[in-house]
Amino acid sequence: MSYADVYQSWKSDPNGFWMQQAEAIDWIEKPSKALFDENAPLYEWFVDGKVNTCWNAVDRHVENGRGAQVAIIHDSPITGTVQKITFAELRNRVAMLAGALQAKGIEKGDRVIIYMPMVPQAIEAMLACTRIGAIHSVVFGGFAAHELAVRIDDCQPKAIIAASCGLEPGRVVHYKPLLDGAIAQAEHKPDFCVIFQREQEVAKLEEGRDFDWHAFQYGVEPSECVPVEGNHPAYILYTSGTTGQPKGVIRPTAGHLVALNWSMKNVYNVDPGDVFWAASDVGWVVGHSYICYGPLIHGNTTIVFEGKPVGTPDPGTFWRVVRDHGVRSFFTAPTAFRAVKREDPNGEYLKKYDLTCLETVYLAGERADPDTIHWAQRMLDKPIIDHWWQTETGWSIAANPVGIELLPVKVGSPSVAMPGYDVQILDEAGHQMKPGELGAIAVKLPLPPGTLPTLWNAEARYRKSYLNTFPGYYETGDAGMIDEDGYLYIMARTDDVINVAGHRLSTGAMEEVLANHPDVAETAVIGVSDPLKGQMPVGFVCLTKGVNRPHADIVKECVAMVRDQIGPVAAFKSAVVVDRLPKTRSGKILRATMVKIADSEDFKMPATIDDPAILDEIREALKSIGLAKETA
Ligand code: COA
Ligand code: AMP
Repeated sequence: MSYADVYQSWKSDPNGFWMQQAEAIDWIEKPSKALFDENAPLYEWFVDGKVNTCWNAVDRHVENGRGAQVAIIHDSPITGTVQKITFAELRNRVAMLAGALQAKGIEKGDRVIIYMPMVPQAIEAMLACTRIGAIHSVVFGGFAAHELAVRIDDCQPKAIIAASCGLEPGRVVHYKPLLDGAIAQAEHKPDFCVIFQREQEVAKLEEGRDFDWHAFQYGVEPSECVPVEGNHPAYILYTSGTTGQPKGVIRPTAGHLVALNWSMKNVYNVDPGDVFWAASDVGWVVGHSYICYGPLIHGNTTIVFEGKPVGTPDPGTFWRVVRDHGVRSFFTAPTAFRAVKREDPNGEYLKKYDLTCLETVYLAGERADPDTIHWAQRMLDKPIIDHWWQTETGWSIAANPVGIELLPVKVGSPSVAMPGYDVQILDEAGHQMKPGELGAIAVKLPLPPGTLPTLWNAEARYRKSYLNTFPGYYETGDAGMIDEDGYLYIMARTDDVINVAGHRLSTGAMEEVLANHPDVAETAVIGVSDPLKGQMPVGFVCLTKGVNRPHADIVKECVAMVRDQIGPVAAFKSAVVVDRLPKTRSGKILRATMVKIADSEDFKMPATIDDPAILDEIREALKSIGLAKETA
């Protein structure tokens, strides 16, 4: 079947299409139908089925003769170690951990926060939760204590599973003090914590609250897989919105299983037994879908890579891992390739490795710029596939479905809509636009299985953020167009979300931090173009009347505050003091115009601007930090 046939078969019978894909999943009780639309515009899938995620990701492969196959390869160039865990071993490890959690009172529906670096124990913790129907929420290690505290208060975990430390090149990230700080800041207190002590740093445990990962499991009964309803949340993953309060995206169990399993062959073109590698982090959605769940559900070997594209030890690391482990499909972020390209533009490191095992490379997480794609095509001589999706969807909205057929690659486009997604470009009034015209990208409801049904404890916010602007549609927050051949082009965000090194961040959250500086009266944070990280945040601060401390000191304090409260991952390194901010007559800050000035791009003077002269002051301020080089 061609892509067009598959897409059409979904369109003409969505229920039949998804019920057929659901056949690939082991059900405890089969669902009676696919879509449940009784509460439209809130939709759910496979609600009356009974199923378990961990069974499908682990146990069933052991039952079906894959017990001796390697499930997880942990490759850590930072510690210089490689560890392999078979499906049979993984089942035993996960069943013990799940049993220990149960023995301490964790039950179906309880929340468990996981705060861990790239070690296999992070995956085991996720699977142990889904095994017993507990809802995990993984928090990325690059976030600071405050961000962790916000998530603790929002999802109110009964337990937190963490590691003693993470390892960044040249520095140990002290997770345990961050965790202790977060628990102290949060109003909600977990009943207990489980700490995986790494040999690089052993953390002090708090008597009565903290348990050692190994001792905690001593003598417990391994747990069986607990059946859950199709719409039971498998996990909550927080992602950046326009404010400092992150959005808790809910992932429903059954749709997640069905959609990820479908994507492994149809998008990523791997068969059970193949090695699949997503070089991301378990703290992001890519890590959830394609380091942990997707490959394991589909019977693939997955790689947990603890390293960076460069410097661990060199820009040949990716190619070494691909060759050593026989990777067939490889998924990374464009930023990672830009980092490799900068250090190894002619592929001298790449030439050292025989990469015949590698068939296809996938990029997502941010815009894939044509330069980077052309470079990768030249270096690897393999299809380089851009694909577009979000934390909210959990799998591709648009991709080149290589496992169905490799469509012609159009550089700059993540290709075409996947089955389940009716993607349309809308104008402000919600009318469909013509091919080639730029507008808001929206998806006609319902979204397919696996996508978010709502936000954790925030249905009103879910409706406001995604459903209200265009009734009957899901608003993606991205703007772009569709060409005559149905290829999508993703141009920009329509909100204040920025993308720094493939990490989704909220400028609003950074503004909230800066506003707390005692000398700061008003602030704006924008994302400016960066040749390596795609975008970088830049802050503007207006001082309270009468403050006459050196600006450099205030800027330094602002930078430290964002690092301290949001975390190093925000990469907030530059800020400038200005007298005032450009605004519309109604008081809205003209952030988009500021971005254009910073990027030295032409722009149209906003008709509603209050005082155009401020833009010159902004340009001068930006020049003082090396931006806005040419006069726009
Ligand atoms: N725990 C603690 N700190 C972390 C962290 C983690 N898991 N991940 C990143 N950080 C820190 C870094 O150490 C760095 O700190 P610094 O300011 O002290 O140097 C800061 O957060 C910014 O990190 P990063 O954006 O990763 O920048 P970098 O300069 O260290 O590395 C790249 C640059 C391009 C190599 C890196 O950004 C990269 O690999 N990007 C790919 C991202 C990716 O795979 N995204 C997945 C989405 S699909
Ligand atoms: P996240 O939820 O962290 O995966 O970030 C999702 C956002 O990243 C999207 O809404 C886009 O703005 C951006 N994004 C992800 N993939 C792509 C892509 N292939 N091309 C352009 N932007 C992308």
